[in-house]
Amino acid sequence: METYLETTKDVYKKAAETPDVGLCCTTTPVWQLPGLEIPKIMLDMNYGCGSTVNPRDLVNDPTILYVGVGGGMELLQFSYFSRKKSGVVGLDVVDEMIDASRKNFKEAEQHNPWFKSDFVDLRKGDALNLPVEDETIDVAAQNCLFNIFTKADLKKALAEMYRVLKPYGRLVLSDPICNQPMPESLQNDERLRALCLSGALPLKEYIDMITEVGFGTVEIRAKRPYRILDPKHYDTDKNIFIESVEVCAIKDPMPEDGPCVFTGKTAIYYGNEEYFDDHKGHVLMPNQPLSVCDKTAGALSALGREDIYVSDSTYFYDGGGCC
Ligand SMILES: C[S@@+](CC[C@H](N)C(=O)[O-])C[C@H]1O[C@@H](n2cnc3c(N)ncnc32)[C@H](O)[C@@H]1O
Repeated sequence: METYLETTKDVYKKAAETPDVGLCCTTTPVWQLPGLEIPKIMLDMNYGCGSTVNPRDLVNDPTILYVGVGGGMELLQFSYFSRKKSGVVGLDVVDEMIDASRKNFKEAEQHNPWFKSDFVDLRKGDALNLPVEDETIDVAAQNCLFNIFTKADLKKALAEMYRVLKPYGRLVLSDPICNQPMPESLQNDERLRALCLSGALPLKEYIDMITEVGFGTVEIRAKRPYRILDPKHYDTDKNIFIESVEVCAIKDPMPEDGPCVFTGKTAIYYGNEEYFDDHKGHVLMPNQPLSVCDKTAGALSALGREDIYVSDSTYFYDGGGCC
């Protein structure tokens, strides 16, 4: 595994030189927005597993950083909202990928009269050592890169994102996660790891790593079936089910009782009183659903009341509710 970062660069050098449509097959629909036309080459080079672009994150003219540019599709989508010179900074360690995306931005200019290539400031840079000043970024994004990293490197990459974000800044991530433990032989297969298949962590571990670097709020926005690693094709004796998740981690101060992780749980009070107040900042109006973080969901369930319903996680959450 000492050479996995080099293997990764090699995989993406080739994927930059010869677009590989099947490299990352995502079921996430590509954003369709008025006046946005994504060139075919960018779609062919969509090496992500979900989306990191959400208009909710992009109010108040944020500074945007995107790490691991691929063919540039998501940078074009971010530019759709920022629409200014250097509105999005894009970093990648692979020269060929930077060259390919630069060419793709020129092509995008032909299809999108509102877009200019210099809306994206493309630079060489490593996710493990970002060439970006502390606390200068409002929205940082990465799609399908961090899952490639070993846990030690993932910790570094997350800490780098935390460092460059302003207080209350947002880190938007999209990565595969696994539901069964990944066999060690697959974890140590450098090529499968580089292809975003075998570095996937179980969701809880992935979220714990995000909160351990200091993010006080985490939103799980989507979770979708992604791949099966089966015994016929991979060195495993059981099927391994991989899903892709979209997560937003907010650099909120860490609450004293631990991070607020929203997995799409909702509480509903259906009692006879005017409202239910837990005296910890949560007021439930009768039959009005309130999105709650997992901590609050646990505390409400622990009351054992018959007039409060707490839903399971839907893994579909992008704002509102308690905390
Ligand atoms: C799986 S692709 C994802 C590309 C893009 N985010 C997308 O959604 O299409 C991983 C990208 O990360 C880049 N990359 C690999 N290692 C990196 C590193 N250490 N730092 C920054 N970028 C890296 C690759 O060149 C490639 O562009």
